[in-house]
Amino acid sequence: MAASLLKSPALLNRSELFGQSVRPPSSASFHGHPTTVSFTVKASAYADELVKTAKTVASPGRGILAMDESNATCGKRLASIGLENTEANRQAYRTLLVSVPGIGQYISGAILFEETLYQSTVDGKKMVDVLVEQNIMPGIKVDKGLVPLAGSNNESWCQGLDGLASRCAAYYQQGARFAKWRTVVSIPNGPSALAVKEAAWGLARYAAIAQDNGLVPIVEPEILLDGDHGIDRTFEVALKVWAEVFFYLAENSVLFEGILLKPSMVTPGAECKEKATPEQVAEYTLKFLQRRIPPAVPGIMFLSGGQSEVEATLNLNAMNQQPNPWHVSFSYARALQNTCLKTWGGRPENVKVAQVALLMRAKSNSLAQLGKYIGEGESEEAKKGMFVKGYVY
Ligand code: 13P
Repeated sequence: MAASLLKSPALLNRSELFGQSVRPPSSASFHGHPTTVSFTVKASAYADELVKTAKTVASPGRGILAMDESNATCGKRLASIGLENTEANRQAYRTLLVSVPGIGQYISGAILFEETLYQSTVDGKKMVDVLVEQNIMPGIKVDKGLVPLAGSNNESWCQGLDGLASRCAAYYQQGARFAKWRTVVSIPNGPSALAVKEAAWGLARYAAIAQDNGLVPIVEPEILLDGDHGIDRTFEVALKVWAEVFFYLAENSVLFEGILLKPSMVTPGAECKEKATPEQVAEYTLKFLQRRIPPAVPGIMFLSGGQSEVEATLNLNAMNQQPNPWHVSFSYARALQNTCLKTWGGRPENVKVAQVALLMRAKSNSLAQLGKYIGEGESEEAKKGMFVKGYVY
């Protein structure tokens, strides 16, 4: 945790407090009372663009395709269909994903892993260019993954702040317009106050840095599905986590109109005996959003977290049965890709049919974003849960 977190706001120096460069008015007199002086906070030079980007990603009937698996995680996906984790196989799979004909109708943004941001398709076009041609904004995973959090109850923290500003600037040059930072909170392991504070602080620093470099930050404190707790416990933890996240986002002068959120839905733990209906998930999740998320935030893009494809779509649909102050949508990886990956199976002759499978999933979630999904004709594969204990992204 950054040392500055341990200071009270009154003791922070000005640039720490605002997270951006600030200039006191020339007539300001401090006399040791910095909190009585008002400062002009310099908005990010990208403020207008950030708002526009966030609105575009959060456009009606569209959501995000998360395809930012690290190479290690992508390797696990490929292994599940009997493929080796080579750059060529990752390239073939990612080419299939970005070039689904017509997918831009349902997908507004795609989160990429660094390798893909700089990668070409199998036929030599830049992946980023293919996305832009499809009317899809390229995004980039910028965190450096989870490591054990010393002094906690076997919890973790997310690395990646060192050098983040220059990486974000380079990613912007390469065509990325939004970013993702995923940290996790474990309910069975606590969560401890330390782990929640660290998660929230890291997200806020990242968000300020991303905005300063033109990237809309997706703020993702994933509350893991692991555990046998009931839905009320998840609700309580969601309230705690998001209260801290917004406290530090505000303290870091993050522009709320220029962020996107990626929360977990409020569900019972994966090992809980009592299951929840989509209506219950929607009720709890919307209640937590209403209590914690300002309407200035343009988009809530849920992760799927190990739910089956159909479950994730039904839950999203239930949340869109009434108007919401925000665009309530999806940013799924497993719940968009699963059937597609299985259908492909690494065989060139299956590429087209696998692309149709992804298009159908994207279309179902687009309908769910509009509250119009009826859930007919789904395959058995799409109904299979994908929860894995201790899942690493
Ligand atoms: P899942 O939808 O598989 O949980 O992935 C979400 C994620 O964090 C990817 O950005």
